[in-house]
Parts: sequence; C-alpha cells; structure tokens
Amino acid sequence: MKLVETVTGLHNALDACGQGKKVGLVPTMGALHAGHASLVRRCVADNDVTVVSVFVNPTQFNDKNDLKNYPRTLDADCKLLEEVGADIVFAPSVEEIYPQADTRIFDFAPLDTVMEGVHRPGHFNGVAQVVSRLFDIVKPDRAYFGEKDFQQLAIIRRLVSDYGYHIEIVPCPIVREADGLAMSSRNTLLTAEGRQHAPAIHRIMQDSVAFASAHTVDETRRFVEDGLAADGYLRAEYYEIVDGRTLQPIADWQETDYAVGCVAVFCGDIRLIDNIKYKG
Ligand code: PAF
Repeated sequence: MKLVETVTGLHNALDACGQGKKVGLVPTMGALHAGHASLVRRCVADNDVTVVSVFVNPTQFNDKNDLKNYPRTLDADCKLLEEVGADIVFAPSVEEIYPQADTRIFDFAPLDTVMEGVHRPGHFNGVAQVVSRLFDIVKPDRAYFGEKDFQQLAIIRRLVSDYGYHIEIVPCPIVREADGLAMSSRNTLLTAEGRQHAPAIHRIMQDSVAFASAHTVDETRRFVEDGLAADGYLRAEYYEIVDGRTLQPIADWQETDYAVGCVAVFCGDIRLIDNIKYKG
C-alpha cells in the first residue's frame, strides 16, 4: 500500500499500477471504522486498484468547532487500510485539494433544500466541491459511499448525472454496532452517557417500522419524535419520512414505493444521523 500526499504523487502511483486497470475510489474523512472497512473491502473486490482518500474537507463544515474537533487518526487509518487491502491512500493537504479557493456553487434543488440541507447550510455545496475535485483527480471507474449519509448519496448521484461523470456510484449498507448504533467517526466523540443513550435512535426507528404497518405517515413520524423525546437525553433536530428518490416528505404511504425515515439527533453535543427503510 502506498501513502501519497500530492496530486502528482497520486498520478505516479496510479501510473505505476499499469494501463487499463479498473480504479475504485472510497472518499473518506478518516477516523476510519468498520463501516469504512466494508466500503473498502467491496471496492477491493470490484476493482483492480483501490484508492482511499483521507481528507477532512473544510468546505463542508458549517460549524468551525465541528471542523476543529473532527477526529484525525491517519496512522491508525493506514493500518486498517493495509489490512483490508487498499492499494493507495491519498491524504492531501487543503492546499493540494484547493490551490485556489473553490467558489463553485452547486444547485441540487430540491434534493439539497430539505433535512441536512436546511440544518447545515452550505454542507452539500462543500461535499460536491470536494467529491468533484476527487473525481477529477482520481478519475475512478467506481466510487463507494455509505447509505448512512442517505441524502449525500442522492446528491452525489445527481452530481454524477448533472456533470456527466462516467463513474458508477456504489451504495453500501449501514454497518451497526452490536447494540444497533450506526457506525460513525463521530461516535468516538460521544461521552460515556451519550454512548449509552445513542442506540435508542435505531431502536426507536426500528420499532416504528412495525408501528407503520397499521398507522399513517404522520402517526409514524410522531411515534419516532415522541420516542426520542421520551429518552430525555437525545434531542432530535428533525425526523422526516421521505420518498427515497426525491427526498421530499410524503404524506401518505401510497405516494411512493420507496419510503425512508431520516433523522438527525443531538446526543449531548454530538450530532448523529441515521435512517431506516419503510418501503422499497
Ligand atoms: O461522507 C464523508 O465522509 C464525506 O462527506 C465525503 C464524501 C468523504 C466528502 O468529504
């Protein structure tokens, strides 16, 4: 496995792999866990060359403290990546990714005008900036993204179709801890008390799937909101039940064959997201 920090270094490492190879990209912000490992394993199985980028992208953080506190663990990340068979780790500086300030404005309406788009203004613009830069630099055949960031995945598919990238986007299922908590780099920031309460998020959403079979969308949404409020420690920012393709809230189960519940919850000071499929 080769660790490179510059665009030139990356291109040299790719050239050294030879012509005509299928290249898979797993974009990450580091602080890797078993969820990332599953993306990389899938990428290694599908492609000749696996590139994993490790870059904490400043342009997607709407909160300076969140950027400052984001965990950075490159040595441990490289160990994990070596074990799961990555070929190239691309860990560039901010200057390498953005030699000039990136002033591009993307418009993915209505996908980016709901949920995270409302509560983290500018977040998806920053994600689109960095992902398009990585696509342009690495030129992968396939790119791998986790379904935990459900809205991000929809927006990246749209980026690919709007800008004509010849890249197959491969979605990968959420990986959970034994108690149901969705794996996230942010979980390491939870306090002991937060870690005890966090599994309630998935438990309540899972209970709501059974509840939904005999209740309306509105009742199901309230079931989750009330369940989270009853925990007493968790503070939901939103819970939306949306069409999984348009990401617009639905009012009736019959409106779509693909219904997904998406949540953002403050667990103490740490903001976690998760989602669950009702239909589709
Ligand atoms: O999902 C993430 O970790 C990030 O948003 C991504 C896709 C690596 C872009 O910085």
